[in-house]
Amino acid sequence: MVVKVQWYPGHMEKARREMAERLKAVDLIIELRDARIPAASTNPLLNMLAGKKPRLIILSKTDMADPAATAEWVAALKKQYDSCLAVDLMRDPHSGRKIIREAIRVMEPMREKQRAKGIRPRAVRAMACGIPNVGKSTMINRIAGKNTVKAADKPGVTRSLTWIHADPELDLLDTPGVLWPKFDDDRTGALLAAFGSINDDILDIKMIAMDAIHEIQTLYPGCLESIYDSGEVNPNGMLKAIAVKRNLVREDGVLDTRRAAEMFLNELRKGKLGGLTLEHVRSEEQEDLPE
Ligand code: G4P
Repeated sequence: MVVKVQWYPGHMEKARREMAERLKAVDLIIELRDARIPAASTNPLLNMLAGKKPRLIILSKTDMADPAATAEWVAALKKQYDSCLAVDLMRDPHSGRKIIREAIRVMEPMREKQRAKGIRPRAVRAMACGIPNVGKSTMINRIAGKNTVKAADKPGVTRSLTWIHADPELDLLDTPGVLWPKFDDDRTGALLAAFGSINDDILDIKMIAMDAIHEIQTLYPGCLESIYDSGEVNPNGMLKAIAVKRNLVREDGVLDTRRAAEMFLNELRKGKLGGLTLEHVRSEEQEDLPE
C-alpha cells in the first residue's frame, strides 16, 4: 500500500497567484523537473498557468538518475514542449551557459521579429519554476555565475518573486517552489516525499522509506541487495537489514528502523544508491500536451 501524502501550505497558493499575475511580463517558462521522477515532479498547475507560453524543460540532478531513462525522457519531452535539456547542475560548470543558450535558441523567432523591425533584440525574460528542492537556486546561481540565491535542502523555504539580471541576454524571474493542492495519485506524493520535495516534519518517514524501497526493488532488482548485503524482499525486512548494516540499534537493544529509514532516504536523495529513475516514459506523457 502506498502512503497518502498531501502538502499545499498557504505560501504556495500565494506564490501561485503571484506567478499567474507576473506571467504577462514573461516570454518563456523555464521549468525544472527532477530527472529521477520526471512525471511526479511535473506541476499540473503550470500547464494551466502557462497557456501558450514557450516552455523549456530542464531535467535536473541527472548525475543521480539512470542515464538510459534520462535519454528517453529528454526525447519524449522535446516532442511535447519547445525544448528539453538534461543537466548536472552540481558538477557541470557549463550547465548555466547551456541553459542560457537553449533559452535564447527557443526564443529566436521572437528575437528575429524584433530584428526585422530594426530593433536590437532585448534580453529574453524567463520565469524559472519548479517544485521545492528541484534545484532552482542552484540553477540560478549557475546561470548568474555567483551566489545569487541561497540553495537550501529544506523544501518550502519561502522566497519572493524576484527578477535577476542573469546574463546580458537573459533576465530570470525566480519563483518559490510550488506544489499543487491534490496529488492525482498516492504514488506521486510518495515519490515527492522520498526525494525531499515535501517537508519531512509532516511525513511518516518509515512509510515513505518502505514505499521507496518497494519501488527500487521492483525497478532495479538486486540494487539494494548489493548495497545493504541482504536478499530481503519485504520493505520492512529491508529496513531492518539497513539497520543491521549501518549498526543502528536503540538503547533498549532493538534495531532502530526509524533511523534506518532516515539514513536510507538521505542516501537515496544524495544519489548514493547509484543512478536511479523511478518513473519511465508512459504513453500518457505524449497526451499531456499543453492546450
Ligand atoms: P530549490 O531552489 O529548487 O529548492 O533547490 P536547491 O537549488 O536548493 O537544490 C536542492 C538540493 O539539490 C541542494 O542540495 C542542491 O545542491 C542539490 N542539487 C541541485 N541540482 C543538483 C544537481 O543537478 N545534481 C545534484 N547532485 N544535486 C543538485 P543540498 O542538500 O542543499 O546540499 P548542498 O549541496 O547545498 O550542500
